[in-house]
Amino acid sequence: MNPIYEKLEKCFESYKAKIDFVPKVALVLGSGLGDYAESIRVEATLDYHDIEGFPVSTVPGHAGKFIFGYVGDVPVVCMQGRVHYYEGYAMSDVVLPARLMKMMGAEILFLTNAAGGVKQGMHAGDLMMLTGQIGCLVPSPLIGPNVDELGVRFPDMSQIYDLDLQRIVRRAALDLGIDIKEGTYMQFTGPQYETPQEISMARTLGADAVGMSTACEAIAARHMGMRVLGISCITNLASGISPNPLSHKEVQEIADAVAPKFKALVTEIIKAAGAE
Ligand code: HPA
Repeated sequence: MNPIYEKLEKCFESYKAKIDFVPKVALVLGSGLGDYAESIRVEATLDYHDIEGFPVSTVPGHAGKFIFGYVGDVPVVCMQGRVHYYEGYAMSDVVLPARLMKMMGAEILFLTNAAGGVKQGMHAGDLMMLTGQIGCLVPSPLIGPNVDELGVRFPDMSQIYDLDLQRIVRRAALDLGIDIKEGTYMQFTGPQYETPQEISMARTLGADAVGMSTACEAIAARHMGMRVLGISCITNLASGISPNPLSHKEVQEIADAVAPKFKALVTEIIKAAGAE
């Protein structure tokens, strides 16, 4: 058997032995959304450490557990803490959680992150819905023997972010009076923030926001036929646009300040997406 699938199956069995829950929406919590669990009617939690073979984050503050429960009537699985490529994991491990949540039953992958704003008119504290992505600066999570159990060798990526879900996001933002931006997300490996020259390149190539996650998870999810939705919290203007040096502390502070608005939006979206 494909070793990647074998590892995934082991994780799934480990999960199955402990949790009896079928989620519809899988939500990955980026910076600032860490305490979104407060918005969920929690049924169960599962520490990543308790899943055999599951990659566990090394970043301080990235607590690692799955939270199972309901947002309104919608069954969700939430990832509190994700692993990043810059931590040194193989790309197949970075996307293992997304694949596992599909195996749990999730049909929709809702990705959130913190990102640097590149587009003109973007401000720290804005939210940006992802309409497209540039993921080719990082290795594809699909490199290696294809996992036929998950999807085809050469999957189409012409519309990674689901158009119906995008409509739901626009409607939810409108209802909540949130002015949501839209644009293309570009994934860098990190962990260093970009240079101003790299940001010039990103802008020239069509990026509206930059970050260190998400695009690889979206590719893995589309490979499996999941519907994907992504929202970035713009925590800072990207390198060279901002007059100040970038810091993780600033990113976290802005993410925390935006969290109430972001959480309200996420809840509205999940309720609407789950009712479809
Ligand atoms: N660059 C990359 N990742 C980020 C940024 C940034 O400016 N802000 C938050 N995450």
